[in-house]
Amino acid sequence: MAMELKMTGLTSFMNEDELKYMNPLVQTCNKMLLEKSAQGNDFLGWVNLPVDYDKEEFARIQEAAKKIQKTCDVLVVIGIGGSYLGARAAIEFCLGQMYNSVRPEGIPEVYFLGNNISSGALNDIIKIIGDRDFCINVISKSGRTTEPAIAFRIFKDMCEKKYGKEGAKDRIFATTDKARGALKELANAEGYETFVVPDDVGGRFSVLSAVGLLPIAAAGIDIAEMMRGAAEAREAFTDGTTLDNDCFRYAAIRNILYRKGKGTEILVNYDPALVMFGEWYKQLFAESEGKDLKGIFPVSAAFSTDLHSIGQFIQDGTRNLFETVVWVKEQRSDVTIGHMDGDLDGLNYLEGKTMQFVNSKAYAGTLLAHVDGGAPNVLIEVDKADAYHFGYLCYFFEKACGLSGYLLGVNPFNQPGVESYKKNMFALLGKPGFEEEKKILEARMNG
Ligand code: PA5
Repeated sequence: MAMELKMTGLTSFMNEDELKYMNPLVQTCNKMLLEKSAQGNDFLGWVNLPVDYDKEEFARIQEAAKKIQKTCDVLVVIGIGGSYLGARAAIEFCLGQMYNSVRPEGIPEVYFLGNNISSGALNDIIKIIGDRDFCINVISKSGRTTEPAIAFRIFKDMCEKKYGKEGAKDRIFATTDKARGALKELANAEGYETFVVPDDVGGRFSVLSAVGLLPIAAAGIDIAEMMRGAAEAREAFTDGTTLDNDCFRYAAIRNILYRKGKGTEILVNYDPALVMFGEWYKQLFAESEGKDLKGIFPVSAAFSTDLHSIGQFIQDGTRNLFETVVWVKEQRSDVTIGHMDGDLDGLNYLEGKTMQFVNSKAYAGTLLAHVDGGAPNVLIEVDKADAYHFGYLCYFFEKACGLSGYLLGVNPFNQPGVESYKKNMFALLGKPGFEEEKKILEARMNG
């Protein structure tokens, strides 16, 4: 079994009957997803994506990844939100946070840009690249998102100065809408190789499309294995009852806990390699559920690091939260603790034990403590952190998110709220068409 959901940390907060009551509701929501019969039904391409994807494009992605590996020391991936988080989450999940320093020969360093507006961060990447060869994968479905558009303008210029217009053309890969948008037009005009963000797949559900797959493949990860994992999860979580299907059960549990006042979910990991997975999960659930004045607020935490900071709150603070712990059973590599003469640090009782063993006891001990403190714990145990398991886990959370959104009574596939800050920013920047708003907002700011 690739992963398993365990109820150990939930038994004192809900009973099996409550799960049974949820069964018809979850089944209905599953039907809504499979039959595309509810709101957001034009954004359900992700449901069958693990099996129903463009095989010709998949092969082109693998070829482009090889070309990037051959011609570049550094791949700069430009994108934000759904056009960024999945790829970075996958790379760090499979290779660890330090992937750029420990990568094998022939694999480029991969840096993510255009996911903020920090000039300092951008200049740091320029410094890191130095005189080395680089390629760019610019990713934007709409092609008009400010953050990646600014970063791309700067890097396109750098690339053309270094390699000439013709040379740059071979080093820039654009992932965007198949027909429309500023980036698509630019890519056509300049002759870049392009990859498609499917029309019916929203940004936060797009990691298993070209959006995620090109950077992931360029980082040396086996994307066929990733798709295999996702396809097996799709198979496992297509049907079933709430009680025998981990994905349905997770959606039901979240809803039960929400109704009991648990309005915050903390996705917990025990390995820095999963920190970006937590960021991906946050976008997935926040944009899908947080609307119409409802929703579980998704946050993430890295243990044991955060046990020394927010651990206090989780143990003892406001009782409005629950944890979903993703525990990876097998480490990428392990370390055995040695002997110290005199036992000056008092650790000789751990001699011969591995760090993963210590981590597993931290996991078990924390679980019991937090449950005793009144924080329900959903446990998701994953065998390994590799491409297959990333694909599997990713599909698990996507499907659970779709079900959760419908259970909550919202459309999980739109994100009307993300436009508000953009309108104000455009007005304050003086974008043509926003003149009136600019006056109003400046008066408020000065007032
Ligand atoms: O989920 C979403 O739709 C957003 O987070 C987008 O992915 C993000 O804003 C990037 O959009 P685009 O790919 O159009 O540049």
